[in-house]
Amino acid sequence: MCGILGYAGGREATDLLLEGLRRLEYRGYDSAGLCLLDGPGIAVRKCAGRIDSLAQLVGASPVHGSTGISHTRWATHGEPTDANAHPHLDRSGKLALVHNGVVENYLEIRARLASKGHAFLSQTDSEVLAHLIGEHYDRLPPSPDRLLAAVRDALPEVTGTYGIAIVHADHTGEIVGARRGSPLVLGIGENEFLLSSDVTALVAHTRDVVYLNDHDLVWIADGSYQLTSLTRAQIDREVRKVEWDSEAAQRGDFAHFMLKEIFEQPASLENVMRGRLDWENCSARLGGLNMTPRELRQIDRIMIVACGTALHAGMVGEYLIEELAHLPVEVDFASEARYRNSPLDSRTLVFVVSQSGETADTLAAMREVQRKGLRALGICNVVGSTIARESDGGVYMHAGPEIGVAATKSFTSQVAVFALLGLLLGRLRHLTAPAGRDILEALQALPSQVSEILKYNDAIRAVAEKYAASSDMLFLGRQANYPIGLEGALKLKEISYIHADACPSAEIKHGVIALISPDFPAVIICPRDGVYEKNLSNLQEIKARKGRVIAVAHPDDKTVASMADDILPVPETHPIAQPILNVIPLQLFAYHIAVALGRDVDKPRNLAKSVTVE
Ligand code: F6R
Repeated sequence: MCGILGYAGGREATDLLLEGLRRLEYRGYDSAGLCLLDGPGIAVRKCAGRIDSLAQLVGASPVHGSTGISHTRWATHGEPTDANAHPHLDRSGKLALVHNGVVENYLEIRARLASKGHAFLSQTDSEVLAHLIGEHYDRLPPSPDRLLAAVRDALPEVTGTYGIAIVHADHTGEIVGARRGSPLVLGIGENEFLLSSDVTALVAHTRDVVYLNDHDLVWIADGSYQLTSLTRAQIDREVRKVEWDSEAAQRGDFAHFMLKEIFEQPASLENVMRGRLDWENCSARLGGLNMTPRELRQIDRIMIVACGTALHAGMVGEYLIEELAHLPVEVDFASEARYRNSPLDSRTLVFVVSQSGETADTLAAMREVQRKGLRALGICNVVGSTIARESDGGVYMHAGPEIGVAATKSFTSQVAVFALLGLLLGRLRHLTAPAGRDILEALQALPSQVSEILKYNDAIRAVAEKYAASSDMLFLGRQANYPIGLEGALKLKEISYIHADACPSAEIKHGVIALISPDFPAVIICPRDGVYEKNLSNLQEIKARKGRVIAVAHPDDKTVASMADDILPVPETHPIAQPILNVIPLQLFAYHIAVALGRDVDKPRNLAKSVTVE
């Protein structure tokens, strides 16, 4: 949510910042800006709109310098306007700040500063923060670390969250950064430093990074950097290598990142399973859980917390773990779990699921259960993300960077992790070795089966185009395929803006069927599993009311073909692995509808990739 990039080094920074902002644009894209320390002054360019608009502005009115900060915004306080875009200046006009997060007490600080004569040009909480730091700066005597000291003095007055980068006209070559609740990463290049909310903007320049923790301050100055805490303690933090290079974050020949990421799923599924299929014990190897078999056996309840797509993966996980390990599983929205007084005891194991590892509610829910003494394990994609670092162990998805705002490959990787987890927990209880082996075989076959589905891309596009004019759609499925329906509906909503809903197939009779009409098509997920006949009855109920039906089914399933209007084809596998296959045609279906409607697939309106505010 919002992207930050700062640069201090020997190179001309304008193009580098613009290029970096393009890589961050998926984090927020309603306005953008940059500022460069340009000789003795500070030059700011900012505007509402996308990075292209900012690039045009900079083209028309160039700025120069080799120290600068930049920002792409997802509005929280104040509409996306030129004035509300970052960077924001302090009262002196010499200090500039970019900010991710929310300053909760900004009205109070603003009123206090206004009474001292500060005038504000925007409606944002971020401008108030710039003025507050400027106020402290003006009070301090000149010294080499005056900017750092001003930031350190100001931040204790702030309630809320921030990832910030600050420059000052009198401190060329310097950037001060700080974080609380919003990610910030330092990139260490050759004689240069970068500071960003996300490694995606850094990998084109360096893969050596230092992840800041909450309450850390970083001071880049004189060709080196220093990490300290708000209480001035020196911090020695490991320099880590980013696993992937800038190639992985390029769109290549694909029309959109979302399509590229859908097509990457054979590889991302290989990656999530690599080294984790334990053929010898017919089980799974998940060493990152940091738990002994004995400890895993003592668990008598699992709780999964997440948001959005990750929540849907958790809901599939609920079915898989209950089926394989007979453990009760509860799944909750992280935004609810964090404020709920759910009875938890030491035998409850909590999983927090997050692609980005930075989602504010998921992080808060995790900290809440940890505060109560429970073990919280993370299922994350972004290595070094806050949830990955603060959890008590977990499983990395190794899906590679996911840039499209709509999550796709991270979802299938999350579900694969839950299948592995169910298998491991099951084999520590009463799942037999042959049953475990069947699951391993099904998991191992997934990448090639996903490739098979991707070959139907053109056929799926043809079906999608037929239904693109619909204003509503219903998704139905049973058991683990019910959350797959939820995920199909979410994909459609977020990128095509078509209203969609999902419910367990049989639930339609309890109200939803009233909506069915020839203009309200239903997608039903209909594998030949234990509830196949039941789903067929629901399909018939819709047909009897003149509803059009699109079925996710095996291409040779003549029964479904004779009943449904259209088929989204999927191969068959073990019921534990089937949900992973079933979601692929739904991702493509949503994608092609959005393209047919001319939507901005990778950057749908009102959204941002990583939701780091509550
Ligand atoms: C939907 C989508 C979101 C995220 C949700 C959680 O396509 O991407 O619903 O799944 O914001 O994000 P993470 O997984 O980063 O915690």
